[in-house]
Amino acid sequence: MQIAPSKTLEFHAKISEFVRSGRKIISLGLGEAECGTPRHIVDAGIKALNEGRTKYSSSAGLLELREKIAEKLFNDNNIDAKSNEIVVTPGAKNALYLSCLSLLNDGDEVVLIRPCYVSNYPIVKLANSNTVIKEVDLIKPEFELDLDAIEKSINSRTKLLFLNTPHNPTGKMIRQYEFDFLVDLLQKYPKLHILSDEVYERIITGSCKHLSLASNQNISERVITVNGFSKAYFMTGWRVGYLHSKSKYLISKAVKIQQHINTNTAVFVQMAALAALNGDQNVYLNYIEQLKERKMIYEDFLNTNNYLTGSSYEGGYFTFIDISKTRLDGDEFATRLLEEKGVAVVPGVVFGEKYTDFFRLSFVNTTELFEDGLYRISNFVKEL
Ligand SMILES: Cc1ncc(COP(=O)(O)O)c(C=O)c1O
Repeated sequence: MQIAPSKTLEFHAKISEFVRSGRKIISLGLGEAECGTPRHIVDAGIKALNEGRTKYSSSAGLLELREKIAEKLFNDNNIDAKSNEIVVTPGAKNALYLSCLSLLNDGDEVVLIRPCYVSNYPIVKLANSNTVIKEVDLIKPEFELDLDAIEKSINSRTKLLFLNTPHNPTGKMIRQYEFDFLVDLLQKYPKLHILSDEVYERIITGSCKHLSLASNQNISERVITVNGFSKAYFMTGWRVGYLHSKSKYLISKAVKIQQHINTNTAVFVQMAALAALNGDQNVYLNYIEQLKERKMIYEDFLNTNNYLTGSSYEGGYFTFIDISKTRLDGDEFATRLLEEKGVAVVPGVVFGEKYTDFFRLSFVNTTELFEDGLYRISNFVKEL
């Protein structure tokens, strides 16, 4: 089976090459916060290593961590979660993959909503290459769910629909009417599951409230909630995330698969994740204040730029910018912007073949560099 490399990581490699050649680059490309992991989390990892927490753990993850995650899901997400409904994984990406491996059989259909996270399509195909993938677009320019198109794409063979809120790459969050629609959909189609990727749930920059689909108890049996520590606690390189499901079948299958492919998430990393959940939650609150400042800069940037239109920045790390008025396609725009102005953004086509007229803008660089980057983008567009 042919699997394309991760285009965002490929782009990262291209930027690294530029940096090695001595050029100064402002990266508004990747989803990795500019600040490092908070001290107390690092210390917890080191302490665990010093205490010899270097052995295998249960494949589902340390009980104390799963208990804490269950408490967090209950308190923050209104999900009636228990420790035995959770599997700790090496990153949320791995939790998405384990969920697909556990659920998908030959001939099952999966609905992906485009644009979407770059790894969703390869994850489905790697989990089961005989899965039929149907793609439904969000409604431009504000990228709401297209309820009619979603409903039309579902039939009795549809096993899984991917949901991501706050959304990568558009920065949108689902609304109550979209939530209600998805609940109804699950009730209409008894075979359907929803994989709800909520890795950006704490990164909210607008007034919209994060909604977790599994909080609705009528359908919670068929919602798999995926989350992680990369975004909320600046722990991208630690590789720790989790999935929650109320289906005993799914959890037992995911644990068995994990026994064979990962054994477990590194124990000292799980201890650091536990410290993140137990520790000071201001680390991310402070960061969100900075993102809100950048949001104001972004809104000014759009207001003063006639050639670009962008999605509203409600949450997560990104927005999606329409460049059709510049008459460049996303690839050319991103390449020339990098070469001529030293600013890195990711071409929209990475998130869906149709999105040739877009680029993804990341908000995770210092506010000073973010502002400078937008200033350079404005100049680049003016000079075209
Ligand atoms: C929507 C989405 N889901 C999952 C992930 C993967 O997160 P992790 O680092 O926990 O594997 C990312 C990372 O960028 C993401 O944007």
